[in-house]
Amino acid sequence: MAFPATRLRRLRATTGIRDLVRETELAARHLVYPMFVVHGSSGRTPIPTMPGIDHLSIDAAVREAGEAHALGIPAVLLFGLPASKDEEGSGAWDDEGVIQLATRAIKAAYPDLLVIADLCLCEYTSHGHCGVLRADGGVDNDATLELLARTAVSQAAAGADAVAPSDMMDGRVGALRSVLDEHGLSETPIIAYSAKFASAFYGPFREAADSAPQEGDRRGYQMDPANALEAEREAELDAAEGADVVMVKPALPYLDVIRRVKERTRLPVAAYNVSGEYAMIKAAAAAGLIDERAAVLEVLTGIRRAGADIVITYHAKDVARWLQ
Ligand code: PBG
Repeated sequence: MAFPATRLRRLRATTGIRDLVRETELAARHLVYPMFVVHGSSGRTPIPTMPGIDHLSIDAAVREAGEAHALGIPAVLLFGLPASKDEEGSGAWDDEGVIQLATRAIKAAYPDLLVIADLCLCEYTSHGHCGVLRADGGVDNDATLELLARTAVSQAAAGADAVAPSDMMDGRVGALRSVLDEHGLSETPIIAYSAKFASAFYGPFREAADSAPQEGDRRGYQMDPANALEAEREAELDAAEGADVVMVKPALPYLDVIRRVKERTRLPVAAYNVSGEYAMIKAAAAAGLIDERAAVLEVLTGIRRAGADIVITYHAKDVARWLQ
């Protein structure tokens, strides 16, 4: 039936009717709040590239996690800035490392809040790459798997509710699943950054995490932004290796990939609304160019509509407050 019998505006007339027919829900329960925990410092220090986000000491991270929890956000994602870095990134699997200490402290204070440990070496290596380097400067995939495996066991043993490998090495999900199982950690889920693109939108994060590569770039392991079929293959492989959740990152330039990965894998899909996406909105709002609240809610609703079950976002606390 066409116009005039059909009038789509009938279902847009009032708040009540719009609420009744809305297809996509955005709620605090879908959100994950990322935090940057610094070894040994005290209190909080603003991160210049990410207005509203701070470097947190472990004490401050516990308080911040408590705020997120009180707002109904179910999970935090932890990034660590270690006391020192080396060629291998050994701070990543130190049982007394910054993530391990922060995880124990947050879980002790808020046992119901989920702690997801980001699992990568780039914050811990002196050269800033996500794995160990060969003599020719390339990242040695298989040697890196061993180090990621140690890190996963250490993080899970510290109480992490899930580990989230963001390194993009081939075979890492399978390697992590078997090492976790061997260590009696078969209940620990793997949230795999499956389709992680070599993106310009990580810039503010790399300042925040002090993780920019000293030489070269990440295009030898992160994905080419032009490739969606390859993203499906990455997600399918991770699913076959035992990933419990697959992730697409960044979110906004890759909404089609979110949808395709969802339809292909039928797994829970996470999307990472990354630091550059956050910083753009903050900058535009600070310049008076957009309404921050309306823009953030629209962006996150769009990411959910594309097929993301879980949205990782620095806006999480604001959003949870606005939705209350
Ligand atoms: C680590 C990692 C990065 C991000 C999350 N985990 C940076 C990178 O790959 O360079 C980016 C997150 C963001 O930009 O918010 N490998």
